[in-house]
Amino acid sequence: MVIDQKLQKAEEAIKKTTQNINPRYRLGYHIMGEGNWINDPNGLVQYKGEYHVFYQHHPYDENWGPMHWGHVKSKDLVNWEYAPIALAPGDEYDRDGCFSGSAVNNNGELTLIYTGHNYINQEEDTFYQTQNIAVSTDGVVFEKVGQNPVIAHPPEDSAHHFRDPKVWKHNNQWYMVVGNSTKDQTGRVILYKSQDLRKWEYVGVLAQSDGTLGYMWECPDFFELGEKHILLISPQGIESKGDDYNNLFQTGYFVGEYDYEKNEYEKGEFLELDHGHDFYAAQTLVDEKGRRIVIGWMDMWESEMPTKQDGWCGALTIPRELTLGKNNAVSMNPIDEIVELREAKSVELENKSISDYHLAKENSSLLEIKAEFDLTDCKAESVGLTIKGVEEEEVVITYHIRDEKLSLDCSKMGKKEDGVRTTELVNDGKLTLRIFLDRSSIELFANDGMKTMTSRIYPNEERLGLMCFANKGEVNVKEFTYWKLKDIWK
Ligand code: FRU
Repeated sequence: MVIDQKLQKAEEAIKKTTQNINPRYRLGYHIMGEGNWINDPNGLVQYKGEYHVFYQHHPYDENWGPMHWGHVKSKDLVNWEYAPIALAPGDEYDRDGCFSGSAVNNNGELTLIYTGHNYINQEEDTFYQTQNIAVSTDGVVFEKVGQNPVIAHPPEDSAHHFRDPKVWKHNNQWYMVVGNSTKDQTGRVILYKSQDLRKWEYVGVLAQSDGTLGYMWECPDFFELGEKHILLISPQGIESKGDDYNNLFQTGYFVGEYDYEKNEYEKGEFLELDHGHDFYAAQTLVDEKGRRIVIGWMDMWESEMPTKQDGWCGALTIPRELTLGKNNAVSMNPIDEIVELREAKSVELENKSISDYHLAKENSSLLEIKAEFDLTDCKAESVGLTIKGVEEEEVVITYHIRDEKLSLDCSKMGKKEDGVRTTELVNDGKLTLRIFLDRSSIELFANDGMKTMTSRIYPNEERLGLMCFANKGEVNVKEFTYWKLKDIWK
């Protein structure tokens, strides 16, 4: 096999940057690049006994630039190791970037399907995008195929946005959804089919914005969950409305029924998948256990990213299992294996009433926290949990009992004026909070994943503790437990 010079150069660049990284905000159990910039998760797949996750990567700089595909793999979805960079741009169909895409196991051949980004005029941001393929038989070294681009142009009625192919197999036929925009700037997802992953036939539009859901739908994913079909998308251009759509862009989904014969998708309303500040471009895989697992990019375009000063930028969420919950809403919970991160356990409260607060003096930065509050006959106005840093630093999670609203306030830990996110959460008699805290992130799973909130935070290394609280009344705390978590990168 010919050694790919572009990949070799990228690999050398990334190895060099790892020597100059300031570790203060490096995460302990999340996927990050070895150094420099990463964004979307790509090509989630289980192949020959290992889980593979690729990601959008710029190995030469801490800012976004010509996209490569970085690569990590794992036997258990918990402990990850780096593999060599899988794709580098620079061929005539992907001159300026190997953009997001997916992966499938095609009879033992691991196939990556990705977007080639090509500028017409970079200053004016005019470009065209193509769909391409690269294959591997060992899951480590990939070769772009001679038939590229396998889709050279979007359909006639389309704008130049044409990216992020997600491929799956149904009844012996390959299908691909692609993020797209109409000529008049309406976000939509279009569908293709193929017998061999090389020749693709355009089927038509799978779903399109009704005018309120943005100008471009990025990173589509389409899959069965329970009896339903879920269309996951990351639209650009939705206006914020009350508690909803307050990030620059957001990832969300529709629940519906799909008819493959007629390409008809009947769907409900668009719902945000996560309600924190930093969750975008999420993608899923179905594993051999039949679980639908999702991973998101744990940042947001144009937000403050102080780790750039430290020589790296961007991370992915912990893997989460998707299930269809009550009222046909999708729930997200950490995959079961995540408990393998647990080290020392501390039980702080068990079936005990508090009327102000209880402080657990714990200064570790890598923690899983579980708190359960009994809300039957609870007279308090609000209850919750605070992560106390030093001086004024804190992150506050509050459940406002009467309003049935859950909020995450990171304004005193790195988010400043736009620090609060709020979402509805029905009061069904108890509140459970499961929290994963890392050196620069917080992931909150409330009421068994009915609502999740994910945000990056940037605290001092020093922390005071964890505080469980009740405002203006008493609450029975059924459980307040935490575990120190292992650092998988050390
Ligand atoms: C989403 C996205 C994708 C694109 C990639 C480029 O965050 O804009 O649409 O493929 O990032 O890095």
